[in-house]
Amino acid sequence: MKAKNWVAYYQQNRVNRSEPEWCAARTEEAERAKELARSLSHFQLGETGGGSFLFKNVDPKDPEAESYGEALRLFVEEEKEHARLLAEVTCRLGGHLIRRHWTHGLFRVVRKLLGLHFEIQVLVIAELVGTAYYRKVEEGTCDLPLKQVCGLLLKDEAFHVRFHQEKLAEQYGRMMPVLRQLWLLSFQILFYGALSAAWLDHGRCLKSLGTDRATFWREAEGECVNFLDGMEILAGKQKRLTGWQYVELAG
Ligand SMILES: [Fe+2]
Ligand SMILES: [Fe+2]
Repeated sequence: MKAKNWVAYYQQNRVNRSEPEWCAARTEEAERAKELARSLSHFQLGETGGGSFLFKNVDPKDPEAESYGEALRLFVEEEKEHARLLAEVTCRLGGHLIRRHWTHGLFRVVRKLLGLHFEIQVLVIAELVGTAYYRKVEEGTCDLPLKQVCGLLLKDEAFHVRFHQEKLAEQYGRMMPVLRQLWLLSFQILFYGALSAAWLDHGRCLKSLGTDRATFWREAEGECVNFLDGMEILAGKQKRLTGWQYVELAG
């Protein structure tokens, strides 16, 4: 990966960010606003966190360790900005912020199990599911600032996924095919676990916005398929050419 490019991207993305129109009239009806506030407060909690475990696990022998560490720091800062936006919109909808929730606790435990590569894998899965969620909330809500918050988050999350994808592809590209298959299997098991937990927690809110379970799953599965396809492409790009391939290309 080109960690320096990511540092430049995150630095650039901090400037000239638009702010949602918080003064816009409230248009969500009371019951739906309540559901949204509850659901968004859980996502708000998920976007907080200092990233200390991430930083601790950066390999100091990695020639890009310094730039990658800085890119990670800026990534965590951007997630904190998401937490700020979600806090504002939660309060706007009449909800209150929470400090703990079982989905957040489960996520923290799982992601710390097996080191940096695994933690990023779990983070990416949360971002893929989150992307499907923010897209459905953006489509379903009639509250202008909430739509704008979702738009801002979706734009950033697409780059977060790509950032982590490049890191994961470094290792994935070096795996033997059998290990790749096992990695893909474990990724998809975790993905469906996260998706089920998300539906359990946010299904009621999404239903109130007109999204049923099948639609939400299709949306998230689409994100997952795109991500895994992208891994293959990135891993293919970094593959070293073997002797006979050089001969073929030369011919
Ligand atoms: Fe985020
Ligand atoms: Fe993110």
